[in-house]
Amino acid sequence: MAPILLRRPSLRRLGRALGAAAQPGDVIALVGPLGAGKTHLAQAIARGAGVPPETRVTSPTFSVVVEHAGRLPVHHADLYRLGDASELAEIGLVERAADGLLLVEWADRMPGALPRDVLWVTLSPARPDERSLTLSATGPRSEALRAVAERWEAARRA
Ligand SMILES: Nc1ncnc2c1ncn2[C@@H]1O[C@H](COP(=O)(O)OP(=O)(O)OP(=O)(O)O)[C@@H](O)[C@H]1O
Ligand SMILES: [Mg+2]
Repeated sequence: MAPILLRRPSLRRLGRALGAAAQPGDVIALVGPLGAGKTHLAQAIARGAGVPPETRVTSPTFSVVVEHAGRLPVHHADLYRLGDASELAEIGLVERAADGLLLVEWADRMPGALPRDVLWVTLSPARPDERSLTLSATGPRSEALRAVAERWEAARRA
């Protein structure tokens, strides 16, 4: 799938489409440099999954993961400050998030800690106001989400 080039409002719309399609057990890894838009996308995905606007969705700073109530639970994790994989194992991140959607910023810091089926979304700054998104799926559920993004992009271009 070719990279998708998005300004902020479109990136948010794609995020909402992904969140609306999410099912319990889904995992989305958000990868890219500082300021790439991982948290922006995580917010929009959470909104799509039914997390109400009055719930602030920001990168968890003092804990590795926070849970938001939506149509399904949304677990938002950020591995940027994580010491090592044993810390993740201790938290039981993947097990704890199995009842809902798991969003993982900086997932590339600890890819081994994630389950097998993950939608990997890599964001890279294109122009100051645009981001290039590359999506790759590693199993049936992530493939279903990737297909949602592909259809969304096709509809946008039509
Ligand atoms: N097309 C775009 N999509 C998303 N964000 C954009 C876009 N254009 C500009 N931005 C800006 O880029 C920044 C993205 O910030 P965000 O916190 O989402 O990044 P991040 O990848 O989570 O960074 P960090 O690794 O520091 O947490 C915001 O300031 C946002 O306004
Ligand atoms: Mg962030």
